[in-house]
Amino acid sequence: MVSGTVFFQTTYFTDAAYIVAFSLLIYGMGGLTGPRTAVRGNKIAAVGMAIAVAATLLTPGVWHGTSTVILIIVGVVIGTAIGVPAALRVRMTAMPQMVAIFNGVGGGAVALIAWVEFRHHFEPGYFPLRTEIFELFGAIVGSVSFWGSNIAFGKLQEVLPGRPIKLPGSSQTFLNIGLFVVAVVSAVVLCAGVHSQALFILGILVASAALGNMVVLPIGGADMPVVISLLNAFTGLSAAATGVALNNTVMIVAGMIVGASGTILTNLMARAMNRSVPAIVAGGFGGAVAAPAAGGERAGGAVRSTSPADVAIQLAYARQVVIAPGYGMAVAQAQHAVRELERALESRGVVVKYAIHPVAGRMPGHMNVLLAEADVPYDLLREMDDINPEFSRTDVTLVIGANDVTNPAAKNEPGSPIYGMPILEVDKSASVIVLKRSMASGFAGIDNPLFYDPKTAMLFGDAKASVAEITAEVQAL
Ligand code: TAP
Repeated sequence: MVSGTVFFQTTYFTDAAYIVAFSLLIYGMGGLTGPRTAVRGNKIAAVGMAIAVAATLLTPGVWHGTSTVILIIVGVVIGTAIGVPAALRVRMTAMPQMVAIFNGVGGGAVALIAWVEFRHHFEPGYFPLRTEIFELFGAIVGSVSFWGSNIAFGKLQEVLPGRPIKLPGSSQTFLNIGLFVVAVVSAVVLCAGVHSQALFILGILVASAALGNMVVLPIGGADMPVVISLLNAFTGLSAAATGVALNNTVMIVAGMIVGASGTILTNLMARAMNRSVPAIVAGGFGGAVAAPAAGGERAGGAVRSTSPADVAIQLAYARQVVIAPGYGMAVAQAQHAVRELERALESRGVVVKYAIHPVAGRMPGHMNVLLAEADVPYDLLREMDDINPEFSRTDVTLVIGANDVTNPAAKNEPGSPIYGMPILEVDKSASVIVLKRSMASGFAGIDNPLFYDPKTAMLFGDAKASVAEITAEVQAL
């Protein structure tokens, strides 16, 4: 039998703790599949991560020397001091930026671990070839992910222009291929056992850093959530590869979970936008296109604006109303006001349903989370494929801060950048009311013919204030 002390001193303890940790991570992630279980799932996964961190810190040999102890404590304090306030303060609409920056930090950490490992063991042949390959893979992919995520953060935070930034012609592609070749050749030279390792490690890190920047800069802001998910998958893969090199089970398991889930999410988002992942990475989509000013005209018709009182009458005497929320509802934090309006209409016998587009807002499940926060019953939420056949039987559709996901150009205009993207077919309902502040375009930067449709009326203003005014008018009827 293994005594308590021996158990603690050997890797049995660490391995057992890692098994508990990743079991909790996987179980917690299962909870994220539904809004009711998501918060609990998140907490369970956090406990799993805490156990993994504690087990790593308790691994024999980690606390060697005062300088190591100080470094670990300083690292934990800095990480906590930045992470906790950032997570508490971040607005829901800024969540993609936060995911981008935190994901980048993960990729950067993996690249640094690979660098430090190589610097510590300088002689050629110290590592088996297999370990070197995995470690260098981690260094390249982690570095690309770190720098790419920083650019994604900059674009979403509007520190950098959201439009695609590209070199002319095919020079961008040649530059990217050149950087990739430099990184891979440096890795091959290192594996071949050269003595000037520091130079080639630096070559890998610099080439991959430039590659990360150059790959993400040409991608437009509208594709950033997909890019962030892709970079997330990269970080997972790089962590898993480094886990193999370091023989660290929890890094392998956690890295593969992140890699696999990031890949699945990337594909789901790309499919919901009817785009391919290579087309998104090739960039060029999402340039800012000027939209006409409020009250402007477009070939096809003039814009008709309406008032809260008129909207209230239309809604109150409807049989069925569908609410199609989008990013603007999140910006305005209008979800509670929307729930109030729904209640007011239901008390008059109006059937109210919510139409949920899979990429409405700025992150997967964005609308579901907001509406769950406002206690909207889950059975009122209809996914795009379920609600689309219902629009032709709907009297009024209330589009609240949604734009691209309702744009009929995706169906009717083969030249449109979003042509082929599945949309909420709100234009099939008997009448449409759009709540937004101006005629500005949405994330994709393109004009929306829905706003000029004769059966559409625009209610300009902040969505929360507009919805509250409509509710007050409905209640006064
Ligand atoms: P958008 O097309 O971005 O439109 C949002 C609209 O909300 C804007 O036109 C804006 O118009 C309005 N708005 C902003 N603040 C407002 C406020 N306070 N009150 C009222 N209106 C406000 O949003 P969407 O329809 O939800 O489409 C999502 C976009 O994100 C799509 O292009 C999609 O492809 C892209 N995307 C999403 C995801 C995920 S996972 N969600 C992933 C990748 C890409 P005003 O400025 O005139 O008010």
